[in-house]
Amino acid sequence: MTKDGKEMKWTRKDLLSLEELSREEIEMILQTADSFKEVSSREIKKVPALRGKTIANLFFESSTRTRTSFELAAKRLSADIINFSSAGSSTSKGENLRDTARNIEAMQIDTIVMRHSSSGSAEYLARSLKAGVVNAGDGTHEHPTQGLLDLFTIRGRKKKFEGLNVCLVGDILHSRVARSNIWGLKKLGAKVTLCGPPTLIPKEIENLGVEISYDLDSVLPKQDVLNILRIQLERQSHAFFPSIREYAAEYGISNERMKKAKKDVMVMHPGPVNRGVELSGEVADGEQSVILEQVTNGVAVRMAVLFLTTLVERG
Ligand code: CP
Repeated sequence: MTKDGKEMKWTRKDLLSLEELSREEIEMILQTADSFKEVSSREIKKVPALRGKTIANLFFESSTRTRTSFELAAKRLSADIINFSSAGSSTSKGENLRDTARNIEAMQIDTIVMRHSSSGSAEYLARSLKAGVVNAGDGTHEHPTQGLLDLFTIRGRKKKFEGLNVCLVGDILHSRVARSNIWGLKKLGAKVTLCGPPTLIPKEIENLGVEISYDLDSVLPKQDVLNILRIQLERQSHAFFPSIREYAAEYGISNERMKKAKKDVMVMHPGPVNRGVELSGEVADGEQSVILEQVTNGVAVRMAVLFLTTLVERG
């Protein structure tokens, strides 16, 4: 249902980015997730919504949360799910991505969930397949279901986005989570600030209507939400800051730094957390942290995404 009360119909077989979604489509996913959240609190955590459908998890990069969460989401919707990881597969014999995916699709798969290190790989696959494609993170481009679960978690606590100050802290340059958050938050009306070392914030990102700051202590007091990003050392080809210790001193969220923040500030992190670098253990486990709530909400949001994309009418 849209704001003006009109019934909305989902029309996409793929979920590739939050950039491509309208505000109404994002709201439709969040509303669908509202109804699925309750399923996970039942004694029997299952509904028959996708009975007879088959989902394939294709993960070409490591994952703990996203992969498990998609698997649980599919199972709670009564879909069959197969898990594929590149280790031990025929990709090691030279099979390319399109052939791998087309062979899996040939087993009558309805939706493929894919994580890959190449930006744009999910869109490439979506154009090559009749099956739906859900992007579970493509290189440094987007991680749309992480963006959606972050929006769902913020909405659960703060109720509205208009006028809300959200700060994404850290390695913006390499972060697909940052890009999905920026698109989603801006579409829903939040004010977004990016804060980190100048070398980790690409200048052109200002064109997305965000504020940029290199001084965390000066922007911290007005923030309602802090979304702390992982320092992605595996994607950094050279040193972007002098040392981990200096990064933690300038941008790490410690108990001491939290004294400057609003009392009801939400502390978020997509995981995995580098404790003592971008976030201290005390803050990660503290009262303002919603990190595990994000993980819980991820299942409901992914149930919503699989439900909408898998049941869409296909041409
Ligand atoms: N947030 C996230 O994508 O975590 P994983 O890499 O464990 O899936």
